[in-house]
Amino acid sequence: MKPVIHADRAALVATVADAIESLIAELAERQGRATIALTGGSVGTELLAALADRPIDWQRLVLTWSDERFVEAGSSDRNATQAREALIDRVAIPSTSVHELPAADDGSLDAAAEAATAMLRELGPIDLTLLGMGPDAHVASLFPGLPGVHVGGSAVIAVRDSPKPPPERLSFTLEAINASDRVWLVVAGADKADAAARVLGGADLAEAPAVGVAGRLETLMHLDAEAAAQL
Ligand code: 6PG
Repeated sequence: MKPVIHADRAALVATVADAIESLIAELAERQGRATIALTGGSVGTELLAALADRPIDWQRLVLTWSDERFVEAGSSDRNATQAREALIDRVAIPSTSVHELPAADDGSLDAAAEAATAMLRELGPIDLTLLGMGPDAHVASLFPGLPGVHVGGSAVIAVRDSPKPPPERLSFTLEAINASDRVWLVVAGADKADAAARVLGGADLAEAPAVGVAGRLETLMHLDAEAAAQL
């Protein structure tokens, strides 16, 4: 995992938005489409808002999410709802290109994890997975001390006891994250400094799930100066 340090949060968001814009253009040209798994969190959502005004060929973009809070469809707690407000509802991306993870009104949590795993199989390779990171070094909904980091054989798992509410969530496994060509973490704020130092210093996976993240081609941790303060 390679750290990329930005002067502040605004610079991080603007630079990563530039990089996503260029990546979509490059992939659209080379392979016809770009598939991105989005993250929740405030940095990930600011990033989406920054992309909305860019000259992107939205027809070429396919979106899904690396995790989701298992609440009712349309709830403002859902990462998908926040992404719709920040970006999706503001641009000409076809609705058939937006692949939300299931909501609580679609059925049980276990059925949702199975449906999401099947949906990802259909979707094919993910070009870029974006991840926020919590102060506890969690990524997606893989939290320290929970078994999720060790689960294999399934792309999306049910999470029942998230220490951060809501307790029920769907999450990519490390296997699914690491099947992506690129993984970019977007990490800002002084409350992330300890976690960033531990992750980049090679902490134990069970205590710092972000340690287990590795894209096939590239793994970057974008940090603002505050989050990088202890590196
Ligand atoms: C959640 C959060 C969380 C978030 C990180 C980073 O699922 O409850 O959204 O996983 O992505 O804590 O958040 P920030 O981008 O706000 O630092």
